[in-house]
Amino acid sequence: MDTVIEISNVWKIFGERPQDALRAIRDKGLSKAQVLAEYNAVVGVADVNLSVNRGEIFCIMGLSGSGKSTLVRHFNRLLEPTDGQILIEGTDVMGLGVKELQRFRNQKIGMVFQNFALMPHRSVLDNVAMPLEIRNISKNDRMRQAAAILDIVELGPGAQNTRMNCQAVCSSALALRARLRRILMCS
Ligand SMILES: Nc1ncnc2c1ncn2[C@@H]1O[C@H](COP(=O)(O)OP(=O)(O)O)[C@@H](O)[C@H]1O
Ligand SMILES: [Mg+2]
Repeated sequence: MDTVIEISNVWKIFGERPQDALRAIRDKGLSKAQVLAEYNAVVGVADVNLSVNRGEIFCIMGLSGSGKSTLVRHFNRLLEPTDGQILIEGTDVMGLGVKELQRFRNQKIGMVFQNFALMPHRSVLDNVAMPLEIRNISKNDRMRQAAAILDIVELGPGAQNTRMNCQAVCSSALALRARLRRILMCS
């Protein structure tokens, strides 16, 4: 089986003394409320294990505040775990140096944010082409590739003119599709 993402025993505790809080959880079995009361710390992710295989669509579901966003932010090291291991295609993301981490984020992983991250003054096409600009691909090549990607995630009415600026043409659903297209450009 080709495992792409492997998360082992990941903990994330927000606060001043996360290691002390984690030790107390392990030694004394403190609850989330007790950790907050005694250490003024928030348990964001508690001992998560998962693996995602190539081609698999993996959904993380849970109540608001249960730690979904916190967990996912570990995959590209936007957050660093208090404990545990994150392997992406066998690479330990915590072992990456600054340059390697930049390359990894640029080439290996994409993240679609719920509410932001489109450049409102740029066209839909230009937003989709942005990852290639960061990779120094020529303007002609990136516009050609971006135009091909636009067909994969269908355009809705009102945004056929992909050269108009995003703010003018994008409803929130259309903006989401534009973000999806931009991530597809990375693959
Ligand atoms: N930067 C932070 N500092 C302190 N607590 C945080 C921080 N980020 C998230 N949390 C807490 O971690 C828990 C999980 O939050 P989150 O991952 O945003 O949940 P979800 O995405 O499932 O709604 C919540 O209790 C939240 O308040
Ligand atoms: Mg969330």
